[in-house]
Amino acid sequence: MSDEALEILATETRLFPPSREFANQANAKKELYEQAQNNPLEFWDEQADRLQWDTRWQQTLDWSDAPVSKWFVGGKLNVAVNCVDRHVENGNGDRIAFYFEGEPGDSETITYQQLKDRVCQAANGLTQLGIKSGDRVAIYMPMIPQAVIAMLACARIGATHSVVFGGFSAEALRSRIEDANATHVITSDGGFRKGSAFALKSAVDEAVKDLAFVQKVLVVKRTAQEVSWDAKRDVWWDEVVDTQSTAHNPEFFDAEHPLFILYTSGTTGKPKGILHTTGGYLTQVSYTHNVVFDIKPATDIYWCTADVGWITGHSYVAYGPTSNGATQVIYEGTPDTPHKARWWEIVEKYGVTILYTAPTAIRTFMKWGDEFPAAHNLSSLRLLGSVGESINPEAWIWYRETIGAGKCPIVDTWWQTETGGIMISPLPGVTDCKPGSAMRPLPGISAEILNESGEVLSHNGHAGYLSLTKPWPGMLRGIWGDMERFRENYWSKFEGKYFAGDGAKWDTDGAIWLLGRVDDVMNVSGHRISTTEVESALVSHPMVAEAAVVGANDEMTGQGIVAFVILRAGSVDGPDVAKTLRDHVAKEIGAIAKPRQIMIVPELPKTRSGKIMRRLLRDVAENRTLGDVTTLADSAVMNLISAGLSATTTED
Ligand code: PRX
Repeated sequence: MSDEALEILATETRLFPPSREFANQANAKKELYEQAQNNPLEFWDEQADRLQWDTRWQQTLDWSDAPVSKWFVGGKLNVAVNCVDRHVENGNGDRIAFYFEGEPGDSETITYQQLKDRVCQAANGLTQLGIKSGDRVAIYMPMIPQAVIAMLACARIGATHSVVFGGFSAEALRSRIEDANATHVITSDGGFRKGSAFALKSAVDEAVKDLAFVQKVLVVKRTAQEVSWDAKRDVWWDEVVDTQSTAHNPEFFDAEHPLFILYTSGTTGKPKGILHTTGGYLTQVSYTHNVVFDIKPATDIYWCTADVGWITGHSYVAYGPTSNGATQVIYEGTPDTPHKARWWEIVEKYGVTILYTAPTAIRTFMKWGDEFPAAHNLSSLRLLGSVGESINPEAWIWYRETIGAGKCPIVDTWWQTETGGIMISPLPGVTDCKPGSAMRPLPGISAEILNESGEVLSHNGHAGYLSLTKPWPGMLRGIWGDMERFRENYWSKFEGKYFAGDGAKWDTDGAIWLLGRVDDVMNVSGHRISTTEVESALVSHPMVAEAAVVGANDEMTGQGIVAFVILRAGSVDGPDVAKTLRDHVAKEIGAIAKPRQIMIVPELPKTRSGKIMRRLLRDVAENRTLGDVTTLADSAVMNLISAGLSATTTED
């Protein structure tokens, strides 16, 4: 690291003001903050007006049924028309919508005209399969163009999609299909990852085998691997979709029509189906994509590295950028296949100007070494973004210097599956940036930091709970099938305010620092996983009597999953036990939830009322001296745990 970088790290409060050059051309203007503050509804009307509506709304916001909001009441629009057709109608049909880069090295260029044709064909194909407006469709795909096309086609015909990340197991897929009652599944034979083909269709077969309500499984051929086939249920994409007409008359849907469900972890073992609707969501992602990424659709090449299985891939791949007519890169594979410079090769090949990724990736690249980015021309980059967890100042500086040549603003964007779009972030060209801070709420967004009794904390460095205090168009409309949990989870801690589940503080300059989750949700490589979910997976194994899971600090992934397990009488600890249990968690949830470490213990530390004291387990997992043990029911327990550890810790 350079002397300058070290100096910046030493002075934590160093600000990076926008350069005059960037500010002069920025989409965002300082006045936005004031405008949104003074006339919030007018401000949102203006953002919604960036879209194409078939019927204009009569009322901007109906908050009478709080916490369920209605935005742009009475308005009608079609999301796919906004994201695709209107760019063609505006004379931009030849503009590239997607540069697709497959992991094996194949690539494909798709213009907006071609995207329109393919989305229309898919819409016709889905209709032929019997999918109607309001039906739920599960999408379980690798990062290939058909994943985005399938999402846009569902939106076009008013079907509500539920994308399930391709890394989730058959079991996780099954529970999501069942919860949403999805009548159709769109998948592929598999995809390419780490140099070889992985299978998806076989997981779908397993997931839907007992689900009689699943009518059809539509399969994209990506890898040409062998798949088993149910002739009554399974159909090929190239037969049902690619043969359709490219003409499709769109229907216009109510602004509050359900657009998608996306499952995310909460504090219980059961993932929540977060529900987003049409007009407000598209307004929010389109607006934020425009001002936060400063997108210039005619010249920028934008690359968000997120998979469509996560909210970032929904809002900042499938919907936000396309609504703005942007040109983007999508890449199927991993950053180190076939070599550790793959991303930088892609940046150079396509002349990427805006790169949006996660701190865990940035830290991995730092570890691999500067020679990989240095071998490529990255001078096209002009803006960098980060999402998923707080970015540590060291990684921020490295990102700015090594990837951004010291000239690119960095937008550290805080938001959630539930918020639909970015809530807290610098506005490039307008606000200062500070390494490690997401800075301030975007124009239109109101945030407060509250203490336990709900008092508002000021710019004094005291940590509290982050809360959003005014409704916003992209906010979740509920939890699918469980409105009680929606109220309880987000709206009961502080009366009338949205509780985000994150700790935060304002510093004395009025910049926000995010401090991580305050509930039992872990953040592993920017992915949300609940401790209870992993515990349930562990205790579902016949060898396990009891399990407690904590997220321990991890240099690379932010947090790592550490499990403390009590075996059932008769099950003997041995060299294979940890591996068996880790594989079992992967089977129940997916490889991303595999514990980093499993510790077989004779007891778990509990309070007198039987509650597991995770704080003490975190101390053990992070090799710290134990904190206060006085509330333990049996204080000898921790000695037992610590004594047994050296013999039983398993890691790989
Ligand atoms: O804890 C926060 C963290 O990720 C959580 C939301 O996770 P998810 O719904 O999966 O969405 C991730 C992508 C938007 C938040 O509650 N988080 C996300 N972005 C940041 C962050 N923490 C700190 N800084 C961020 N920029």
